[in-house]
Amino acid sequence: MYDIRITKAEALKQKPADESKLGFGRIFSDHMLRINYNEGVGWHDARVTPLENLSLHPASSVLHYSQEIFEGAKCYRRADGGMNLFRIRDNFERMNRSAARMGMATMPIGLYMESLMALLSVDKEWTPHQDGTSLYIRPTMIATKEYLGVSASDSYLYFVLLSPSGAYYASGLAPVGIYVEDEHVRAVRGGVGIAKTGGNYSASILAGMKAKKLGYAQVLWLDGVEQRYVEEVGAMNMMFVYGNKQIVTPVLNGSILSGITRDSTLKLAKHLGYKTEERPVPIDEVIRGARSGAITEAFGTGTAAVISPVNKIFFKGEEVFIGDNTIGPIAQKLYDTLTGIQYGRVEDPFGWITPVP
Ligand code: PLP
Ligand code: COI
Repeated sequence: MYDIRITKAEALKQKPADESKLGFGRIFSDHMLRINYNEGVGWHDARVTPLENLSLHPASSVLHYSQEIFEGAKCYRRADGGMNLFRIRDNFERMNRSAARMGMATMPIGLYMESLMALLSVDKEWTPHQDGTSLYIRPTMIATKEYLGVSASDSYLYFVLLSPSGAYYASGLAPVGIYVEDEHVRAVRGGVGIAKTGGNYSASILAGMKAKKLGYAQVLWLDGVEQRYVEEVGAMNMMFVYGNKQIVTPVLNGSILSGITRDSTLKLAKHLGYKTEERPVPIDEVIRGARSGAITEAFGTGTAAVISPVNKIFFKGEEVFIGDNTIGPIAQKLYDTLTGIQYGRVEDPFGWITPVP
């Protein structure tokens, strides 16, 4: 339905030979997608081209005022050689919600979908085969107005990169320790925490450096007002298992990013017969629950990291431990079911999969 031009690269790159060493987000496919937006014209000039550097005027507003949004999705290789996209429309719907929050142009879901399929039609063979790997999809939108005043841009560039990736953490499914940041905050209600915008991530880097220095893999963020309630962990939503049966996660309160893996995990958990609860989760309750053993498992959920178990939490100078240093049984069951659906090994009861033609 949409006019999408395809220009193929003359020489194709060598695909990674050892898929156990992909890492995350370092290798890129042969092509990229670009679509331009101009006020009064709308979205136009959709094109798949060889991957190349962008040329931007140095006054482009994204470079000064961070008017930028992105998404993260994955294409999974099935055992029969075909490929699955997981809840991809939900990513594009969230991208439009992020765009609306940041005063940027939204795009018809059909154009997001058709243009991604055009890019995949030339680069889908970059989807790796090894278990646990996938083709990470990074849709991005930037403001390109050449103007130093602070105002809505009248032009945007949307582009998509494809990156064959392995585990987000080098440790894979091995549990990680997290550091509770009690000085800085990630987001406040009414702010932009609910949008997937670059500034949220640059604001998190200093705390990430502190965590790393202390030997922790990720930062657990508390609410921006009282610093009493758990919000998110790194680029993941956070879940706790109480008494080997009940899954508790912070309620979406206006500053937490609404994760697609979070929603999928809650739906799968209910489907598998576990009790789930979305409510404010005080950090004091988590520390007490870890000490007493009332909390039996903790894990983060996200596209890049999937389900990532947590075995220790550092809060105000004290370290508490959860579980026995392995992934817990509920996290393992959820991981197996979720990845089973994504890789086409398990029936998809929710209609989450879009096969790549
Ligand atoms: N929270 C933040 C801040 C994130 O960056 C992400 C990653 O996308 C998530 C949560 C998890 O969201 P999703 O499951 O949609 O990937
Ligand atoms: C994702 O999970 O897709 C993300 O966007 C994480 C990213 C910030 C590394």
